[in-house]
Amino acid sequence: MRLRHFLTLRDFTPEELGALINRAIELKAMHDRQELYQPLPGKVMAMVFEKSSTRTRVSFEATMAHFGGHAIFLSPRDTQLGRGEPIEDTARVLSRMVDIIMIRTYEHEKIECFAAHSQVPVINALTDMYHPCQLLADIMTYVELRGSIQGRKVAWISDGNNMCHSYLNAAVQFDFQLTIACPEGYEPNSAVLEKAAGHFTLVRDPATAARDADLVVTDVWASMGQEDEQNTRMQAFQRFQVDNAIMAMAKPDALFMHCLPAHRGEEVSAEVIDGPQSAVWQEAENRLHAQKALVEFLLSAKTP
Ligand code: CP
Ligand code: NVA
Repeated sequence: MRLRHFLTLRDFTPEELGALINRAIELKAMHDRQELYQPLPGKVMAMVFEKSSTRTRVSFEATMAHFGGHAIFLSPRDTQLGRGEPIEDTARVLSRMVDIIMIRTYEHEKIECFAAHSQVPVINALTDMYHPCQLLADIMTYVELRGSIQGRKVAWISDGNNMCHSYLNAAVQFDFQLTIACPEGYEPNSAVLEKAAGHFTLVRDPATAARDADLVVTDVWASMGQEDEQNTRMQAFQRFQVDNAIMAMAKPDALFMHCLPAHRGEEVSAEVIDGPQSAVWQEAENRLHAQKALVEFLLSAKTP
């Protein structure tokens, strides 16, 4: 079978994504029953982190430990990547030594270049453009709590950033409607929007976006790498906090999600993230189960 990567949600078919979510729910039940399931003895994952991480690092490391394999954490601070060794060369070398590679980096082109030179599956663990692993956990959480997300209304109230781009891809792949509310100048990438035509609406008012939503989602106003813009962004996004008034516009049984880390008092009020509609802790836990399903799929897809 051909080598598969997971750089965006569009690398998989809607059927494959649906099966992955179901498998993640199954793997979670096995985990909760404390069933020993070790399908990857001796398999090794390289984890390349050019940006910080708590959830992504721990969920992938735990995945490999639970599966009977091993994970190696690599950062530019202590590898030759930080001293300018070309991406292509790093990909060629790492992929001769390990079975699967996960990368968190800046430019999306970097991970595309890495994947093009890798002999083993490459997983996007966040780039400036996309964060597809987070969407697997978000959709899984919605399915667990409310059933299929198909035909549902999702409100994105935040920056047109990597998470927003992955929500746009998810709207197409999982067939839901996304309403995006962001300030002028902070819109999602136009090519990503174009490819999601028919599945999204762009508005300026957060309350309008939240109206009748089944799911309300936000994210930080300044992403990793945008620390210099923090003050300007705080001004621009002032009206965009998800608080009780915004949640009151949504359906009474609407859920709230945030990929975390969160800033209470900025993009979300404490009463919402710590309130009864918030699914954020289940969402964070589901990173583990969803990525287990992903790693299992990618490694079995590679086996002839
Ligand atoms: N949501 C997420 O990716 O968290 P980390 O940055 O902690 O990995
Ligand atoms: N948009 C955020 C997501 C963090 C998981 C960032 O890129 O920093």
